Amino acid sequence: MNIDGKPFRTVWKDPTSDAVRIIDQRHLPFKFVIEDLRQVNDVATAIVDMHVRGAGCIGATAGYGIYLATLEATESRTPEKTLRDAADHLLATRPTAVNLRWAVDRQMTALQSLPPEQWAESSLQTATAIADEDAAACASIGQHGLRIIEELAAGKSDGEPVQILTHCNAGWLAFVDHGSATAPIYAAHDRGIPLHIWVDETRPRNQGARLTAWELGQHGVPHTLIVDNAGGHLMQRSQVDLVITGTDRTTHTGDVANKIGTYLKALAARDNDVPFYVALPSSTFDWNLSDGFAIPIEERSPDEISLMSGLVSPEADSETEVRLSPRDCPAANPAFDVTPRHLITGLITERGICQADESSIRALFPDPT
Ligand code: MRU
Repeated sequence: MNIDGKPFRTVWKDPTSDAVRIIDQRHLPFKFVIEDLRQVNDVATAIVDMHVRGAGCIGATAGYGIYLATLEATESRTPEKTLRDAADHLLATRPTAVNLRWAVDRQMTALQSLPPEQWAESSLQTATAIADEDAAACASIGQHGLRIIEELAAGKSDGEPVQILTHCNAGWLAFVDHGSATAPIYAAHDRGIPLHIWVDETRPRNQGARLTAWELGQHGVPHTLIVDNAGGHLMQRSQVDLVITGTDRTTHTGDVANKIGTYLKALAARDNDVPFYVALPSSTFDWNLSDGFAIPIEERSPDEISLMSGLVSPEADSETEVRLSPRDCPAANPAFDVTPRHLITGLITERGICQADESSIRALFPDPT
């Protein structure tokens, strides 16, 4: 996507050095910061502390992390062990998004039959392929999801916008480019279809308020920020035509784990006959899990609930952290929840739209990787 007219991805290899470059998303929307990652430890920290986040972006960054790990491993006296330890370190960073394991496993499988002197070149090729495929899959999700928006637009009077609600950030910042939930939105906007997006702020880390609102603003898509609890109210008043979210892991039977609060949106959508779609590239399917409730749910620091940062004045140059609750108040922070398949209208994938059930998913993906 373009920022001030210049195309960016969320993660890429610096052509002039060994470094991997990321947009450090912690600083958005107030500052646009690019960070260089030079060691696999830097990559692990960037994923744990959410300099990068979102399932696709985590997977692509981990793919580049293995490339950095091969540079370190081939310098060590025990290359195989050093590389395996690095892979395990990356795998332990965040448990819910399956794209992380998918990318690391893909890298390790490709490397296992090669001698260490070929690791760097091969792993850079694989990391680049993972990133390129992620961008292409999201572009394709956009074209498939566009059909849903076009159908809704056909039922509107002239100039009346299609109203779409989204949760968290399943935008291009959550992938390498385009996004999953936002890809159909960008495709429809680029076609000239009038849209209005309700952006859930997405407590506790406010990925909606900080990232989705910034992305949509950069692309000129009309949007309004709402608190997480407003969606049901808007649906009851026919102010939402469609919900589209992303997912961090989708079982091959159609259950979805996504940012905490997604389930409540799906319940409200069902109660109000609002279509609820989940957009995902196939790298987000877990082909081994049948039961969504078996998906590991990340528990993050209670501080993410109790503390919040922002600008104390419009002129402030840097963010200030404030406490929201009594100093000794316990807080619990499950970062994801599971939306069961029966609440999902359909899955928008790079190969088309299918129902959230095993046979429909298999029909689109008979050859899971
Ligand atoms: O904790 P985050 O910001 O990594 O969570 C991101 C989400 O929940 C997204 O909706 C999800 O990754 C799907 S889009 C890649």
